[in-house]
Amino acid sequence: MANIKFYSGEQVPLEMHKVRIVQKLNLPPIERRLAALDEAGNNTFLLKNADIYLDMLTDSGVNAMSDKQLAAMMESDDSYAGSATFTKLETKIRDIFGMDYFLPVHQGRAAENVLARVFCRPGSVVPMNYHFTTTKAHITVNGGAVEELIIDAGLEVTSDLPFKGDMDIAKLEASITRHGAANIAFVRVETGTNLIGGQPHSLENLRQVSKVCKQHGVLLVLDASLLADNLYFIKTREQACKGMSVREITRAIADLCDIVYFSARKLGCARGGGICTRSRDLYMKMRELVTLFEGFLTYGGMSVREIEAIAVGLEETMDEDMISQGPQFIKFMVDELNRKGVPVITPPGGLGCHLDALRFIPHVPQTQYPAGALASALFLVSGVRGMERGSVSEQRDDQGNEVYSNMELLRLAVPRRVFTLSQLKYAVDRIVWLHENRDLIGGLRFVEEPKMLRFFFGKLVATSDWQHKLLAKFRADLGDSL
Ligand code: F0G
Repeated sequence: MANIKFYSGEQVPLEMHKVRIVQKLNLPPIERRLAALDEAGNNTFLLKNADIYLDMLTDSGVNAMSDKQLAAMMESDDSYAGSATFTKLETKIRDIFGMDYFLPVHQGRAAENVLARVFCRPGSVVPMNYHFTTTKAHITVNGGAVEELIIDAGLEVTSDLPFKGDMDIAKLEASITRHGAANIAFVRVETGTNLIGGQPHSLENLRQVSKVCKQHGVLLVLDASLLADNLYFIKTREQACKGMSVREITRAIADLCDIVYFSARKLGCARGGGICTRSRDLYMKMRELVTLFEGFLTYGGMSVREIEAIAVGLEETMDEDMISQGPQFIKFMVDELNRKGVPVITPPGGLGCHLDALRFIPHVPQTQYPAGALASALFLVSGVRGMERGSVSEQRDDQGNEVYSNMELLRLAVPRRVFTLSQLKYAVDRIVWLHENRDLIGGLRFVEEPKMLRFFFGKLVATSDWQHKLLAKFRADLGDSL
């Protein structure tokens, strides 16, 4: 966003867009929200939109699209093979990432399926700064293992370190030496590390990772799904990059990697995804799997309308005004909550504002899923839907033991250009109320627990009648307010 100073001295993020299409929202009363939670098994993935006021579950596929994206969708060229629309996206990828080969897929995890099938085998290791749920699932399903090499400070919840998503270079060298380069399927850097609070990596760190990979002849793969936010942080926090344009930073990042893949539900504000590379050899290794699982090479499971929207969305990502909207709104929310003593991840990252459930409700043990409990409590008192990013999002080990996550977070995603500042203020207000009444929040336990990706489908119940007590206190404090 442009640097615009208020005469009053107040500093609020000022939108550099206007709203031309709106969607009506509902805020059902708290009694209905309790019933909705019950129906959804306290799993916010299973709530229905009609019961939700602010949907902060994710930024995936729900970012606002621009007038130019919608216009481009109208003139898309549909054909099974060789559509002009696909050529447009291929050209845009070449222009932005400098990569000649592009494989389209229907969304990010489809790219992960292709990568894991091609490069992982039983015994392979994939070192990475931090895992993402679907990435890890694809790697392990193909017999590989994930090794997380985030810098130690990356797991400190509160910090003022600008790049908590950096990889520990010494750990990377040790990992490659320990396993042998032949057993490393690839090294993966996740830009804007999702599960540890949307924290960015620096360009300098990626440069060092790339150097180590080259020395050992190991592939470097970038998950660029959250690239827009990471670009903003490199541009604003990395001294050496202050004079670079967003486009130059993007190109510098891509030049360091062998493969760049992304979910276009995030990057490019549309729906779909893709895998980009400069190497014909790598392209040929992956090509058949795209036609097997996704569709022909000129659509890969995407509608041509979405492909048009991605091409425009990627170009719009090169605009600092556009990429700053998300991080600046998130910073507003984080700063307000932090000021009021609510435990949040700092510094503010991309993707969303993250509440630290371990400090918010320290009396709820990890065995009772504090992040899940907080997600449930917040929905109850506000109609705001967040996403559990803690132990429920983990998977049991081979012996069936719980794997407790490093962090227990409630992620409140801020989809790009969707919410207004007053809506964020409402969310902050209800979070502050909940924090003041945190002693009333209890835990959850599973009643239905799927083996894989249990956070999507699992159902849980409250370990006591704490939700009813919270509702009663809400009514006592806020009267007949919704
Ligand atoms: N990589 C990262 C870093 C992601 O955040 C996601 C999705 C994916 C890969 C998979 O992409 O959903 O298009 O298949 N993240 C979503 C989220 C689901 O809500 O954070 P996908």
